Amino acid sequence: MKFFIDTANVEAIRRFHERGMVDGVTTNPTLVAREGRDLRQIVTEIASFVKGPISLEVVSEDADKMVNDAQRMSGWIDNAAIKIPMTWEGLKAVRKLAEEGIKTNVTLVFSANQALLAAKAGATFVSPFIGRLDDVGHTGMQLIADVVQIYSNYGYDTEVIVASVRHPIHVYEAALIGADIATIPPTVMEKMVNHPLTDVGIKRFLDDSRKVQETKDGQ
Ligand code: E4P
Repeated sequence: MKFFIDTANVEAIRRFHERGMVDGVTTNPTLVAREGRDLRQIVTEIASFVKGPISLEVVSEDADKMVNDAQRMSGWIDNAAIKIPMTWEGLKAVRKLAEEGIKTNVTLVFSANQALLAAKAGATFVSPFIGRLDDVGHTGMQLIADVVQIYSNYGYDTEVIVASVRHPIHVYEAALIGADIATIPPTVMEKMVNHPLTDVGIKRFLDDSRKVQETKDGQ
């Protein structure tokens, strides 16, 4: 399973990259706005050490403008994946960009039919937003199971990015289903290492190690 990190904060990305947890990065306009910095500067910095796909989003609503934005943004770094919203205009842009060999990530996906359309248009990635579905009383993870099944039924190459991840159980359930990728916010990634029994175990071993006699030559 690939882990992308869902943030535009370069320090957080670096921290998890050093731990071997970053196969790619996803940003969106909200995450970029939170940093208060220039988008191009941010993605260029990220691309200096992350070699996997880095998603950055177009903000136009018209297909031709999306294509222009995507062409411009994909020239900034070698590993851009352009996030395109799930609309007919977006799909038209995805089709064009696929023909040009520009990677796309269809975002704001909330139904299996939308994911099917994205794959047919030639999207590289599709991002179903599971946390936002949970928020309105749906079962976000069921959508992931459905999309993974549908793509496997027909052999689509589009990779499923589990997005809008809110807690470690989302990652665990996505892994059980066999989703290609989870894009994980730093706060969630931080929690994934924790288990109270690990803490208790470390403390006990440390306490006991102080009782162990250690001689210089092991005699
Ligand atoms: C990732 O591609 C999405 O932009 C992100 O996961 C959305 O998460 P949110 O629903 O917490 O804003």
